[in-house]
Order: sequence, then structure tokens, then C-alpha cells
Amino acid sequence: AARLAASTFDEVIAADQKIEPRDAMPEAYRKTLIRQIAQHAHSEIIGMQPEGNWISRAPSLKRKAILLAKVQDEAGHGLYLYAAAETLGVSRADLVDALLDGRQKYSSIFNYPTLTWADVGAIGWLVDGAAIVNQVPLCRCSYGPYARAMIRVCKEESFHQRQGYEILHTLAHGTEAQHAMAQDALDRWWYPSLAMFGPPDADSTHSERSMAWKIKRFSNDELRQRFVDMCVGQAEILGLRIPDDGLRWNEQRGAYDFTAPDYAELMRVIKGDGPCNRQRIEHRRRAHAEGAWVREAAEAYARKHATATVA
Ligand code: ACO
Repeated sequence: AARLAASTFDEVIAADQKIEPRDAMPEAYRKTLIRQIAQHAHSEIIGMQPEGNWISRAPSLKRKAILLAKVQDEAGHGLYLYAAAETLGVSRADLVDALLDGRQKYSSIFNYPTLTWADVGAIGWLVDGAAIVNQVPLCRCSYGPYARAMIRVCKEESFHQRQGYEILHTLAHGTEAQHAMAQDALDRWWYPSLAMFGPPDADSTHSERSMAWKIKRFSNDELRQRFVDMCVGQAEILGLRIPDDGLRWNEQRGAYDFTAPDYAELMRVIKGDGPCNRQRIEHRRRAHAEGAWVREAAEAYARKHATATVA
């Protein structure tokens, strides 16, 4: 339906239409979007590291080519997301600085190590699977540029999820040692993947407001439940066991009961004290410093072209 020029922010939200960059919006809405989109962008960029660790050690040329393309996709997602954040009046350079000096966060999940090749499979299946469950509803987010970026990101994430699942399926149906490697990866990645959805609803500071603004469409716990329900059947086909003795079908709820992740651990990891936090930030700072000449060259090139047009 065509939008009336005079629609207020509240009317646009109530009508389930999109807020666009030039529309009036409450300052707190703008701030919360910058926070979430920047964190999301940083997660994509930091998320290149755990898998990048396996590019040179992938077990075949084909696996290497697929993983390389996948990690490049993550870089692309980071770039669309920084561009979406820039429509809110911040600069990418400032957001990158905020990541590097710890003023902005990135997802807890990328602070866990990738110890074996099976971890690359587990990341695709579980981490990208969780990302899809979280991000498909973001395609209907009230802020237009974020919602539109999510459509393409989700299509690519679906491919990532399938490639991870296929790696684990191959290992799980291979030798006994390969099966054990796949099971070990699932054992280590299961609870950190559940924790990705954030604190339980009662402790989620932003959920209520973000849901009222239609930035978030479902709560952290709702999405976590949806993820568990999706994984159970997939684990069965893999022939792997989800490491949870409390996992059982609840007829009344029409959903699986499951053991919650350790939220105290999530808080520690978010605050900087996970297994790889220091290494991840250190690596990003180094890559940023080593890339300075590329940014300078791009700026010099842009300046040269700007003056050439004026002359
Ligand atoms: N890792 C790091 N920080 C987290 C995590 C997590 N898994 N979950 C919650 N937090 C932080 C929040 O950012 C917030 O901190 P802040 O106030 O300093 O920003 C605090 O914990 C409280 O959480 P909530 O109030 O529940 O925060 P929010 O409403 O933003 O919900 C969520 C968190 C679900 C992650 C939301 O921000 C979101 O959907 N983000 C977009 C998706 C995303 O970032 N995905 C990244 C991983 S996917 C990938 O890259 C493959």
C-alpha cells in the first residue's frame, strides 16, 4: 500500500511498513539499530577467523574452494551490514574503531576454537543454522535497509548451513574415528550455539522495546526453542547424539524440553573472558593495521578521480 507522506513513526510501525533512512525516527530507535547492526557486522567479520583457520588444511581441493568462498561470503555480509548501519548516520571507520577498542560487541560464538575439521561442519550446521533462525525474522524488521540486507544474507547462510551439514554427514558416516570426531564437534558446539540467541527473556534488556518497534519479531527464548526443535531430526539423520540428557518431546507444549546453556558462561564470554576473545581481537587489530595502506591507496585514488572530474 502507498505510504502517506504525513505518516508518523508510530503509524508506520503499526501498519507494518518500513522506516527508511530519511524518515523521522526516535533517537533511541536509531541508537538501538546502530548497536544491533554494528554488532551483527562485527560478528560476520570476526566470524571469518575460526573457519579461516581451516582453509589451508581442508581435506581436499574441493573442500578448500567451498570453504574459501564461504569465508568470503561472511566478509560480504559484514560489508552489507556496515553499509546498512551507515544509513543511520554513522561511519564505518568509527564502527570498526568501536569494535577494536571494545566499545562494541560481536557474537559470543566466535570466541570458541576450531580444533578439528569436524568443527567446520559443526559451525555450518549449528552456528549458521542458528544464524538463519535468528535472521529470517529480521527480513521483516521495521528498518528497511537492514531488512533488505537480511534477504540476501539469509540465502547465502542457507547454503553455508547445507555445506556444514554435508561435511558432518560425510564424517558421521565414515570411519569410526571420523564419526567420533563429528560427535566431539557436536558436543563442544551445541551449548555455545544455544547461547548465541542471547540471555533468557527475563534477562534480555532490549527485547521488549525492540519487539515493540518490530526490530525483533520473536524473543530470544522463542528462537532458541525453534532452533532446538529443528536440530533434533537433523541430528537423527546424522546419527549423532545431541549432548543433553534432558532432551525430550513435550506433548503438551508441542516442542522439545531441553537443558538451557550456561548463561553465566555466556556473560563471561560476552565480557571478554572466553577461550579465544583476546586472540580474535588481537588478530583483527593486526589485520586492520596491515590493511592501512590499502585504505590509504583507495582514498588517494578517490581523491584523484574527484579532482579529475572538477578539472
Ligand atoms: N553474543 C554477544 N553479545 C550478546 C549475545 C551474544 N550471543 N546475546 C546477547 N548479547 C548482548 C546484547 O548485545 C546486549 O548487550 P548490549 O546492551 O551491550 O548491546 C546484552 O547481551 C543483552 O541482550 P539482549 O537484550 O537480549 O540484546 P538484543 O535484544 O540485542 O538481542 C540478539 C541479542 C538476539 C543477538 C540480537 O542483537 C540480534 O538478533 N542480532 C542480530 C543477529 C546477530 O548479531 N547475529 C550474530 C551472529 S550470526 C553470524 O554472524 C553467523
